[in-house]
Amino acid sequence: MKQIIRTLSWEKDKLEIIDQTRLPENEEYIKLCTVEDVFEAIRTLKIRGAPAIGIAAAYGILLAAKKAKIKDKKNFFEILEKSSQYMNSCRPTAYNLFYAVKRLNDIALKNSHLLVKEIIRRMELECQKIFNEDIQSSISIARYGNTLIKSGMRILTHCNAGALATSGIGTALAPVYLAARKHKRIEVFVDETRPVLQGARLTMWELKKANIKCTLICDNMAGFLMQQKRIDMVITGADRIASNGDTANKIGTYSIAVLAKFHRIPFYIAAPLSSFDFSKPSGDRIPVEQRDRKEITCIKGVSIAPENINVYNPSFDITPGRLITGFITEKGIFACEEIHMLAKTEQY
Ligand code: MRU
Repeated sequence: MKQIIRTLSWEKDKLEIIDQTRLPENEEYIKLCTVEDVFEAIRTLKIRGAPAIGIAAAYGILLAAKKAKIKDKKNFFEILEKSSQYMNSCRPTAYNLFYAVKRLNDIALKNSHLLVKEIIRRMELECQKIFNEDIQSSISIARYGNTLIKSGMRILTHCNAGALATSGIGTALAPVYLAARKHKRIEVFVDETRPVLQGARLTMWELKKANIKCTLICDNMAGFLMQQKRIDMVITGADRIASNGDTANKIGTYSIAVLAKFHRIPFYIAAPLSSFDFSKPSGDRIPVEQRDRKEITCIKGVSIAPENINVYNPSFDITPGRLITGFITEKGIFACEEIHMLAKTEQY
């Protein structure tokens, strides 16, 4: 399947990204030239979605290594250590960030007997590999996920786990794109996803661009739709999956999973293995990012709440594995009980 949107690309030592804070009004591309640029772009959600964050972070480390212009190996590894710590402090929940930064460190260490110039070349190849693997993962997720979709189905999704969140065609939306290409009659209901509105701004933009039938709803409408028997299946992405299947994803995902269980609607998580953190036995060990209060109290810079109030703004929640019907990955569809087995077979 063709790449639908150029979410990020590497050209002439610059990482070009589509600025997701400007969508849907403006399709604007920006160039990131330093590790600090990449850090800021991730922190401010210009680039977002777990796999895309991981890829951008890898290129951020590469930029730090290139820009340092160091020939001395000891200094080089010091810079690598410093920039990795810096990048790892950018956002705490999406596992792909840590996964990608570790891969760049591992490849540098594995080649530490070579000249610095050659180590950097290997790091650049590793970035490309991470980028390409994500494209392939999204294609495999599309193929496995498509087997669950029958013509006539109405699918609910939350946040944005589409092409904008990956270098490929997405995670949760990948099966949707393939099902549509296979001329299955489908409709996607899209939660707006308060507070930052990734559903309204990004998922609706993507689906509209792809000519897929989609309907925007407020987050608090999902239960009513399920009660009316207007949802056949839920698919969302993931930011981090613990080895017992507990899943961190955009705030609101847990509520939908509870609603889906109550209404006996299958609830799937679509994610590449790079989002699985097998070092965490359960979801309570996953750090949940707390974000700026202004994300809740203001919309587009306009205040919508009184001043000096208490605000709580966790960006993610944890859905217990037992609420998840299955995990659609590039290696197949797994039940929660099978995640342990996956942990044993995968070398992370
Ligand atoms: O804060 P965001 O926009 O980075 O949160 C993104 C999500 O929660 C997505 O659902 C998740 O990263 C999966 S993306 C394939």
